[in-house]
Amino acid sequence: MTDKTLTSSGFYVSQEAPIHADNPIATPSSPAPDILRCAYMELVVTDLAVSRAFYVDVLDLTVTEEDENTIYLRSLEEFIHHNLVLRKGPVAAVAAFSYRVRTPEDLDRAVAFYEELGCRVERRAEGFTKGIGDSVRVEDPLGFPYEFFYETEHVERLAWRYDLYTPGALVRLDHFNQVTPDVPRAVKHYQDLGFRVTEDIQDEEGTVYAAWLRRKPTVHDTATTGGDGPRMHHVAFSTHEKHNILAICDKLGALRRSDAIERGPGRHGVSNAFYLYLRDPDGHRVEIYTQDYYTGDPDNPVVTWDVHDNQRRDWWGNPVVPSWYTEASLVLDLDGNPQPVVARTDASEMAVTIGADGFSYTRPGEELPEYKQGEYKLGHQL
Ligand SMILES: [Fe+2]
Repeated sequence: MTDKTLTSSGFYVSQEAPIHADNPIATPSSPAPDILRCAYMELVVTDLAVSRAFYVDVLDLTVTEEDENTIYLRSLEEFIHHNLVLRKGPVAAVAAFSYRVRTPEDLDRAVAFYEELGCRVERRAEGFTKGIGDSVRVEDPLGFPYEFFYETEHVERLAWRYDLYTPGALVRLDHFNQVTPDVPRAVKHYQDLGFRVTEDIQDEEGTVYAAWLRRKPTVHDTATTGGDGPRMHHVAFSTHEKHNILAICDKLGALRRSDAIERGPGRHGVSNAFYLYLRDPDGHRVEIYTQDYYTGDPDNPVVTWDVHDNQRRDWWGNPVVPSWYTEASLVLDLDGNPQPVVARTDASEMAVTIGADGFSYTRPGEELPEYKQGEYKLGHQL
């Protein structure tokens, strides 16, 4: 970490993302499409009624449209047709990570970009999904089903409809998170696609455990988490404030659905946001997230965390539950079949932090107190 500056908060900053890919995907000569933001995720769920109860009755997302097989949901500040599609299917998985692009011509750029990489590309006039116009779907070089679109049906932005707000109101889609075995390889490819790194987690040897990448001027539109993949780690919605997240916890408790809470609430080190991780009825992970920071300047400093810093994932030092590291959703190819999952070969974050030989610190050079070491330390569990 020689080219990085240690900050008074305990992490490092640098100008260029300090990540190098040993096994890079070729950079296409065709320009990348101009991506605006993550726009929606298409989730395959096994029981539509049960999922509806979770996303509509518990999380209060707004139904734009629905039929026997599909529900189109949006957040309160959204004006495009949807931020989440729940489609009934046999295997719980992700069918699309969908991004909005700046112009219709960016769809041509997406086709040329991915065809040059030898990826499978499908283009459909009038899109693949209700409310979405012409779109392009690809199996990207990392195996993820990516979609790009510009045209979409506008619907009413309900931001002023305070009569519809509930204490845990979800106001925006914030980001995706993807599990992939080789994080530097993924980062390099997504940089070619126009993303910029805002934060990452590394160790002294330069092993990269995760990286956060943005198009819109927030900490991320997607993140790459090291692990067996391609899989989907989570999809995240924003609330206005921290208390809205606490209200969701209270509501889940009152409904005797506290087992939907997997991790949190808490304050992230990475992103500085307040967070809560839930699991939906199929096990898809949903993050509720609020109050990260502005990243839109071209010289926005890249933040690098030491993997052994026990405050990187939770600023208060609360342990990360093992399921959060190991479990994730399958992703589908363009025929709707689950993509094969490839094992990560680099060290895993769980192994180096809470595994038998792992260690973490609150202050560099000092061991964690015994009661913190034991919490999820493998071999110390009941
Ligand atoms: Fe997240």
